[in-house]
Amino acid sequence: MEEIEKTLLAGLEELEKASSSREIIEVKNRYLAKKGPFAALYKELGKLSGNEKAAFGKAINEARGELSEKLEKKLLAALSKEENERLLKEKIDISLPGTSLEEGHTNPFYLILDEIVDIFVSMGYDVVEGEDVETVDYNFTLLNIPSEHPSRDPSDTFYLPKDGVLRTQTSAAQGRVMQAKGGKGAIKVISPGKCYRRDEDDLTHSHQFGQVEGLVVDKGVSLAELKGTLEIFAKKMFGEKREIRFRSSYFPFTEPSVEVDVSCANCGGKGCSMCKGTGWIEILGAGEVHPNVLRMNGYDPSVYSGFAFGVGIDRVAILRYGIDDIRRIYANDKRFLSAFKEE
Ligand code: PHE
Repeated sequence: MEEIEKTLLAGLEELEKASSSREIIEVKNRYLAKKGPFAALYKELGKLSGNEKAAFGKAINEARGELSEKLEKKLLAALSKEENERLLKEKIDISLPGTSLEEGHTNPFYLILDEIVDIFVSMGYDVVEGEDVETVDYNFTLLNIPSEHPSRDPSDTFYLPKDGVLRTQTSAAQGRVMQAKGGKGAIKVISPGKCYRRDEDDLTHSHQFGQVEGLVVDKGVSLAELKGTLEIFAKKMFGEKREIRFRSSYFPFTEPSVEVDVSCANCGGKGCSMCKGTGWIEILGAGEVHPNVLRMNGYDPSVYSGFAFGVGIDRVAILRYGIDDIRRIYANDKRFLSAFKEE
């Protein structure tokens, strides 16, 4: 009986000293374990018999029970105290100064795209979305581009399964818009988007680039209106100082066709590496909609006429901001982007 009392007191004393949950668990493991002091006492029971055995067994149970109960109580109290301390330590001090977040910047591509769209919307154009993944028909055939035309070559165009292509020009939207109208009524739309060509990337070429297509179809639309429209666009985009010029050109889907140049922003027209010494940079192709294109897409060319143009978004951005390398537009280098702030 003395042994039992001693074991209990030793256990209680150690529990008294233990303050953290870890220490309490250690005491618990030591005293209540299979090879602990109480287990040893139970083993002694074998040597006894009858009433003595029962009384001795009861005493061990009670002593072990008392220690176990006190252990659990103290353990629970210690655990909740430690949890409270942890939560207090984690308290967020909202008066501390925050870490400043980096400011994002709009890519100049989209700054220019927004401006181009605004200019044409202010002239009464509707905006329609084309498809990045196009069919060969809309991208080439319905634009009067002959089957042997070099632009169709797989070395120039990204072909996809089932007659698909990544559109090489936003002109692909022309057929879709005309067909949606069922060959009747006026059209005055722009269609901006990304285009893709198998070009080697260099200072002035990128395998992805942006265009804004314009398409106007009505009864009696003339080339003079196209010129007037593009002059307004160029003046709003580049300012009164920049000059523009029209050069006759060739596209299968316009007749006649023109290319429009803007005087080089870098050298002011004297000639530099950016404009390849010419003083001019081409920004768009345009022309009167070819009668075949009108016909193939449901419009009667003896009743309707129209004009179309395709503005290079990247080229305009390069000119406006004096960007020395088209690849910068797509590199997403934060140092480059941070130069462009939205007004
Ligand atoms: N799609 C032509 C190009 O990518 C540009 C263009 C559009 C020309 C509309 C005429 C009319 O070069």
